[in-house]
Amino acid sequence: MIKKIAVLTSGGDSPGMNACIRSVVRAANFYGLSCIGIKQGYQGLIEGEFVHLDARAVGGIVSKGGTILGSARSKDFMQAEGRKKAYKNLKKHDVDAIVVCGGDGTFKGASVFMSEYADISIVGVPCTIDNDLYGTDYAIGYDTALNTAMEAIDRIRDTADAHNRLFFVEVMGRDAGFIALRSGIAGGAEAILVPEIKTDLEELTQQLLKSHNSRNSSCIVVVAEGDDAGHAYKIADAIKGKSPYEDIRIVVLGHIQRGGSPSAFDRVLASRLGIAAVDALIAGKSAIMLGQNGHKISELPFEKAIKHHQQLSPYLLQMMEMLTI
Ligand code: F6P
Repeated sequence: MIKKIAVLTSGGDSPGMNACIRSVVRAANFYGLSCIGIKQGYQGLIEGEFVHLDARAVGGIVSKGGTILGSARSKDFMQAEGRKKAYKNLKKHDVDAIVVCGGDGTFKGASVFMSEYADISIVGVPCTIDNDLYGTDYAIGYDTALNTAMEAIDRIRDTADAHNRLFFVEVMGRDAGFIALRSGIAGGAEAILVPEIKTDLEELTQQLLKSHNSRNSSCIVVVAEGDDAGHAYKIADAIKGKSPYEDIRIVVLGHIQRGGSPSAFDRVLASRLGIAAVDALIAGKSAIMLGQNGHKISELPFEKAIKHHQQLSPYLLQMMEMLTI
């Protein structure tokens, strides 16, 4: 019987984490369970940074980006000593179960912890702007980040058109091209470079030439930060001199994509998954990541979630081929 649930946010923050915290706390209260928040992810678990959360404490946060609990990538939690301290703190506060909000690093940490301390139940909620988690169509934060990137591309287009310039716009995505692919399609980019597909600079040069010859006044190349040809500056350098566009500019969107008020989609997804996490814990489930596939809530064991990566949709890649001219 679960009586007390803890919630934490870990890894890179993503818009919608607050909506998820709110949902977990209010669902727990709804079922008569008490709830506490852990500050700074697993690090706060080790250092005993626990705060009591009730329904009112999470009022007014559904629209806020970032995370009221703070987040961290804890090195100490990778050590057995750190995990032992974390377990002792959980026991001291009578915590029976945890909802962990984060990406695959967060779920890997949870998996190792559970193999050592099986009496604490853990359920994961996917939160990452990269959207590279296997087992869910969408991770919390991706939709907001995608729209932020698209709006930036739209703005860049205005000035690029005015000056007949070529822009390289670097978007986030260390290992995955989800933001690049969709923001590139939505922003009408002339080329999109993603880590999943080998970049051929000669081919890119030809593509730029084609774009220029078709009297395109501007040209935008969206580059995922993890592209195999390197960062946007490196690619722009390699293209310089070979490109028909005389004026080249580079914009790195960076952490702008991580902040900001979550979109309606992310708020609803976060609210849904937060409730589902509490439901799963009450039903005695553990070591699973929740997700949304189609319109349905799904569950996937941590082992599977951390073993695989979500693949880019072949259909979207084909669209990219057809539309980037
Ligand atoms: O959360 C994922 C992510 O935003 C990646 O896209 C990016 O490479 C990384 O985090 C940046 O991490 P940090 O905030 O530590 O610089």
